[in-house]
Amino acid sequence: MSSEMDTAAFGEKHIAKGIGRLTKHVFDEGKGTFITTDKGVKLLDLTSGIGVVNLGHCHPKVSAAAAEQCMKMTHAQINIGFSAAQITLLKELIPILPHPTLDTVFLWNSGAEAVEAAVKLARAATKKPNIIVMQGSYHGRTNATASMTRSKTIYGEGHGPLMGGVFATAFPYYSQFGGATPDTPTEELVNMSLLQLKLTLQQQTSPSDTAAIILEPVLGEGGYVPAPPAFLHGLRKICDEHNILLIADEVQCGMGRTGRMWFVEESGVRPDILVFAKGIANGFPLSGIASSKALMDLQKPGSMGGTYAGNPVACAAATATIKAFRDEKVLENVAARSKQIFSFLNDLKASGTKAGNLIEDVRGSGLMVGLQFKNPALQRDSANAAAQNAKIQGQIAPKVVAECVKRDMLLLSTSVFDVLRFIPTLTISEEELSKACEIFKEALEAVAKDL
Ligand SMILES: Cc1ncc(COP(=O)(O)O)c(C=O)c1O
Repeated sequence: MSSEMDTAAFGEKHIAKGIGRLTKHVFDEGKGTFITTDKGVKLLDLTSGIGVVNLGHCHPKVSAAAAEQCMKMTHAQINIGFSAAQITLLKELIPILPHPTLDTVFLWNSGAEAVEAAVKLARAATKKPNIIVMQGSYHGRTNATASMTRSKTIYGEGHGPLMGGVFATAFPYYSQFGGATPDTPTEELVNMSLLQLKLTLQQQTSPSDTAAIILEPVLGEGGYVPAPPAFLHGLRKICDEHNILLIADEVQCGMGRTGRMWFVEESGVRPDILVFAKGIANGFPLSGIASSKALMDLQKPGSMGGTYAGNPVACAAATATIKAFRDEKVLENVAARSKQIFSFLNDLKASGTKAGNLIEDVRGSGLMVGLQFKNPALQRDSANAAAQNAKIQGQIAPKVVAECVKRDMLLLSTSVFDVLRFIPTLTISEEELSKACEIFKEALEAVAKDL
């Protein structure tokens, strides 16, 4: 442990290898849409820490609120008494939840913990054991949530046995259906997915054993695919028919990311349990679930809790985050910047250039934008002649990400398909986003040249 050891080298030596990371940069400071490394490199951050610092790194009002709370009370244990900081937060949070029936909250620290809390509540309330998840879903890396994650096998591989009682059903995403393409009508994908769900309830887990169906209303890690409103309505109907709870995991797509506070607002579909985390406290660890009081109160006192659950510093940051959303008209910026990025990416796709011709699909909502490449090497149809003759080796997205990093911009790929995800801060300016688009285009052209 030499004191002269380079910081990144020290990290590689002493931090768990199982983490894996996009770059070897050492992040030292964050401000708005930029991160500065320990070596003074200024990075344009199009990841916002995976959809967390929605208001930008170190938003002055959020940081000030946290600092003030730090001098007042840093730990107010929820199994010992009420926390004033939590109650202040809930007075701001409950009115912005997507349905008036969601009036009771349990706060925790991470998204995965909140998903687990939702599962515990669903099981306790229905007295049924099983959970249905979507193919392509991501719910976390703890034991229970790894068992519920179906975006990639890596999260569970070699770590079994995972939690039992989890069954996967289809999500209306064309890449998960043989023969479907981006042009397959949404109605067809929705009907095929709802049929699969009905079969899941007849062939795998009977309604009388099924506590809940959980989905990310915008499939995140699995490919950045918004659920069509008809699918959400179909799920609600099936849940109502069979006394199954509907859980919306809005950990990534919530808190303004899609241009509304919660994605389910677009369809008007009421989840029985809403799961939130990430953007709620703009970088401070806070998560939670919301449901009706009648549902939440079916759990026995003492069955829920946790040492750090709903930490007051994180709660103060969350209260300031919600106020800033309102005061700074953040959703208006999301609408404007969303138009900007969609029109840039769609124009590039239609440009007829070598780079543009690599793009298969541009999709998403607000500033949760996915771009999928047309990659014959990844066609699931092995009979496809293009796949047999594919010149493209591996995925295009990670190569584009590496080219962006070379140009001091952070961008993430996602899923087993060839997808990039653009998740800038929701406060990104027009100029910053133009710069990001320019860098992305250069990076894509550099990759296209070598294909
Ligand atoms: C939809 C969704 N659910 C749950 C999680 C897990 O959250 P955390 O990493 O805070 O445990 C994530 C994280 O990316 C997520 O995107």
